[in-house]
Amino acid sequence: MVVLISGTGSNMAALLEASKDPDYGASIVAVGSDREGTPGIELAGGAGVPTFVVPFRAYTDRARWDAAMAERISGYRPDLVVSAGFMRILGPAVVGRHPAVNIHPALLPSFPGAHAVRDALAHGVRITGTTIHFLDEGVDSGPIIDQASVPVQDDDDESSLHERIKEVERKMLVDTVGRLAREGWTIDGRHVRFGRTEHSVADATYTKENR
Ligand code: GAR
Repeated sequence: MVVLISGTGSNMAALLEASKDPDYGASIVAVGSDREGTPGIELAGGAGVPTFVVPFRAYTDRARWDAAMAERISGYRPDLVVSAGFMRILGPAVVGRHPAVNIHPALLPSFPGAHAVRDALAHGVRITGTTIHFLDEGVDSGPIIDQASVPVQDDDDESSLHERIKEVERKMLVDTVGRLAREGWTIDGRHVRFGRTEHSVADATYTKENR
């Protein structure tokens, strides 16, 4: 898998740790980012994993940046792209070419977008959580693979709540990615099932056109 990150990379680090076990079924061939010098990129590089950065601002428009991302990702020939704390929307060049999953710190379809934890707190929900889903070309809108809940405490602020969500999401991400790698998957409309059928991994790329 190629893992995409924008910041700390604690979810990526959890995948890196899990993939040390040969029975895990997946390994990280590269870690990519839209930002230079982030702790996650440093961490991956320090662990001997190839890294690449495609800075968003270096491109005149989103389509060119997306094409450059797709080019870099495809060079590693991944079976799966994992967006784990990647804060940019990937477009058709990436999503149309590779199966890709995203982890999001809220119970989708509630609170999509870049400020999910803040938005859930502001709304006053008592339970929030995390979602792992296949990427389509929308914002946090693709078919859901798994979710886990996290209760909101009265004295939570955005940071305390996000830290508890991240504890839960690291485990869910590791479990889910391992199962996808070992068992394969089938996407039927909005429903995702583990287990390979006549739809092979290569056919499972999910775009709005083949929904
Ligand atoms: C995670 O909570 C992830 O769900 C979130 O960013 C955090 C990254 O943490 N992603 C999004 O908000 C995407 N919209 P990490 O860098 O420590 O893995």
